[in-house]
Amino acid sequence: MSSAKPTILVTGGAGYIGSHAVLALKRAGYDVVILDNLVYGHQDLVEKVLQVELVVGDITDRNLLDKVFKIHKIAAVMHFAAYAYVGESIQNPGKYYSNNVVGTLTLLQAMVAASIKKIVFSSTCATYGLVETIPIREEEPQNPINPYGATKLMVEQILSDFDKAHQLRSVCFRYFNAAGADPSGLLGEDHTPETHLIPLILLTALGKREAISMFGTNYPTPDGTCIRDYIHVNDLATAHVLGLEYLLKNDNSDVFNLGSSNGFSVKEVIETAKAVTHKDIKVVECDRRPGDPPCLVGSSEKARNILGWNPQYPSLEDIISHAWQWHRQRHK
Ligand SMILES: NC(=O)c1ccc[n+]([C@@H]2O[C@H](COP(=O)([O-])OP(=O)(O)OC[C@H]3O[C@@H](n4cnc5c(N)ncnc54)[C@H](O)[C@@H]3O)[C@@H](O)[C@H]2O)c1
Repeated sequence: MSSAKPTILVTGGAGYIGSHAVLALKRAGYDVVILDNLVYGHQDLVEKVLQVELVVGDITDRNLLDKVFKIHKIAAVMHFAAYAYVGESIQNPGKYYSNNVVGTLTLLQAMVAASIKKIVFSSTCATYGLVETIPIREEEPQNPINPYGATKLMVEQILSDFDKAHQLRSVCFRYFNAAGADPSGLLGEDHTPETHLIPLILLTALGKREAISMFGTNYPTPDGTCIRDYIHVNDLATAHVLGLEYLLKNDNSDVFNLGSSNGFSVKEVIETAKAVTHKDIKVVECDRRPGDPPCLVGSSEKARNILGWNPQYPSLEDIISHAWQWHRQRHK
């Protein structure tokens, strides 16, 4: 009998979190095939760093999905492919419902047709909306306040229905703020446009941006700036391997938050970045942005208890140091 581990299809595997999950899967001994349309993914990183098969194509292309499932013996899917810009989802909701909901539905129908019954799905803390209780637990009511969050909640609902109707088992991970980079410095975050706080600060430190905007300094938090939960991308990636193994061993679906259970304010992140980079980073204080809650921190107790997840990089210094190493070499 072969002891080889099964092959996993990773949609969006050329993107930020997906590429780190591919690396974690490879390190755990899995074979991986990536499906990515490269709208935001990076072919150079797949070729130079990940070195796995890349199918360039779209999750909305049912014929392509059928072909991939016919050629490769796929045991499970990790589904990262989606659009993830909250502001754009408000301006152009149709683009988000088409890609994130219709695209995922196409993928799920192709999986059912090919009898592939295991999927790990990238959901988000944006499905919770404005919450009263911190830290946020999985039972918190989900009331997204933008189309992006709504698309992810819809997929969670579709997955729950597919579980009952087709025994398609899923693990949904609701991530908080993914941050950091692989400690090798070879893989990291490279979004265009960039909207995430830590890369924006580090691009400012590198002189690629003039200043970092601090939106709101009068929130009801200890230093007046918003508090968010940053989770190292390699810890997210490890959770995905554990989620996959949970699906391969068990016959049920579940939902888990993935965060650090620890919040840092915008000011704290900037101060830590100054200390890590030894650069003076110019900050511009701006008005609050509508819809930004003062504090978003998640409880990840369930993932720790059920999956045995034990994040390795809980410190903000580690997250920022690894990201800094990546950005310096990416923007040489
Ligand atoms: N970055 C975060 O902090 C965060 C937080 C919560 C949830 N998420 C979710 O995690 C997932 C990955 O996020 P990311 O930050 O790595 O984004 P990313 O944009 O870096 O990666 C997404 C990848 O999917 C690909 N893609 C998009 N639509 C596709 C399609 N129709 N067909 C094939 N490929 C397609 C893109 O080219 C890209 O490579 C997304 O689903 C996102 O909603 C991210």
